[in-house]
Amino acid sequence: MPTVQAALAAHFQAIRDTHLRELFAQDPARFERFSLRVGGILLDYSKNRITPETLSLLLQLAETADVAGWRERMFSGDKINHTEGRAVLHTALRNVSNTPVMVDGEDVMPAVNAVLVSMEAFAAQVRSGAWRGYTGKPITDVVNIGIGGSDLGPQMVCQALKPYQSPQLRAHFMSNVDGAHVVEILENLDPETTLFIVASKTFTTQETMSNAHYVREWFLQQARDPAHIAKHFVAVSTNRAAVMDFGIDPANMFGFWDWVGGRYSLWSAIGLPIVLAVGMENFRALLAGAHAMDQHFRSAPLAENMPVILALLGVWYNNYFAAESQVILPYDHYLRSLPMYLQQADMESNGKSVDRDGNPVSQSTGPIIWGATGINGQHAFYQLIHQGTKLIPADFIISVTPPTALHAHHDILMANFLAQTEALMRGRTLEETVASGASEPLAPKVFAGNHPSNALLLDALTPHTLGMLIALYEHKIFVQGVIWNLNSYDQWGVELGKQLAKQILPELHAASAVHSHDASTNGLINHYREQVQ
Ligand code: F6P
Repeated sequence: MPTVQAALAAHFQAIRDTHLRELFAQDPARFERFSLRVGGILLDYSKNRITPETLSLLLQLAETADVAGWRERMFSGDKINHTEGRAVLHTALRNVSNTPVMVDGEDVMPAVNAVLVSMEAFAAQVRSGAWRGYTGKPITDVVNIGIGGSDLGPQMVCQALKPYQSPQLRAHFMSNVDGAHVVEILENLDPETTLFIVASKTFTTQETMSNAHYVREWFLQQARDPAHIAKHFVAVSTNRAAVMDFGIDPANMFGFWDWVGGRYSLWSAIGLPIVLAVGMENFRALLAGAHAMDQHFRSAPLAENMPVILALLGVWYNNYFAAESQVILPYDHYLRSLPMYLQQADMESNGKSVDRDGNPVSQSTGPIIWGATGINGQHAFYQLIHQGTKLIPADFIISVTPPTALHAHHDILMANFLAQTEALMRGRTLEETVASGASEPLAPKVFAGNHPSNALLLDALTPHTLGMLIALYEHKIFVQGVIWNLNSYDQWGVELGKQLAKQILPELHAASAVHSHDASTNGLINHYREQVQ
């Protein structure tokens, strides 16, 4: 019996040159066969280079990897993040059905619910104006100080849900330790009416802590009395001791737990800026949407399971077509940060070359995730997707109902969305090029086509469908991690750079030339030292 991988490799050889045009011509029911609706999301995956046999083999691959077993382990709180000895339970944070979820013999749901209640109470005070700054004025601006998972999720969601935002409260996100980012945000703010959320799972991240300390000094320059900090600084963290050391009253701390990965944390208290921006009702709708996708993922057969299908298509291109990247193309201004958000979610999770057993992987793992709003991308990088030498599977995302009253604009957006997926799929033959009236030379005007894409259509971009969409990608990443036998929930790779940065920082002002690194790093450090002295 050949392994399923061998069967897939043989099948790949058999269909690698088959054109999507042929597949559509052979099967008029291809859309019905290869599309799936879950709640307010339709996935059309018929423009992929697959046949029913491909899908059946990929599903066997998922079965062989025991996706269903690992899925159950994740949902039930097994410590599947084995290198850190942690459960992976972002699903518990949005478990709106409130069934018990056990970690170390304890149901985590009461603690999850208690934090949600305290977020709600706090946000209600700030949003209503009852929470006053140290001079008695209501809060007008909220600044989230955090980076990575403590920034990208809340920032992306606040942007996506802009139509739901309260105009009285402006949200800002300070992530970069580049002083320009700090100055740019602070220069328009009034300390009397600004609330700072210091968001860090560990409360040790250099960028976040440096910014938080600087901002505290900036605040005290005007407020003077450290007692006023309580009205203007709150913390979101798992590290209570470090929060107290910083000088934030634990009464103003919103906690979460080590079983929430940073890049999966927007559902936790890390979502506080979202609650402040759009209100608790909308945040709960976001959680409910994610929960709906969790339930679908947990219970639907693999063949009808949206995250599983997306994951398997990604594996098909990554491991058989040797595609190196995956492009995310939202045709939605409000989803413009989604590609960046998914970069961390996917690349920090599955950017691994050692498997769960500590062995080097024998196959390609996580793809490079990139993208931008599709309509802008059309006028920038689509050329390479259409006619370059690389195969780049694309996810096109759009809402059926537009977020504004500009319906004619939305029709143009939709027409472009459809035109691009069709053009990528069909290409243009020489005959068609001639028939279009194109002049010589013709060759550069011929398109090979056969470029795969998924189309994801949201009924509308609401808190609920957004929650579903994010959870869809989270579970896709999970399934791919299982198939590649990875621990998707640690991130040891980023640690080395952090350690080296700490070592280099004092060397930038060393009294004499630095020789402790390689010639390049020494040369650069000394160049900088000499210039800034
Ligand atoms: O970049 C590494 C990382 O640990 C991410 O995983 C995390 O989201 C980010 O840093 C921020 O970490 P923290 O929330 O602990 O400040």
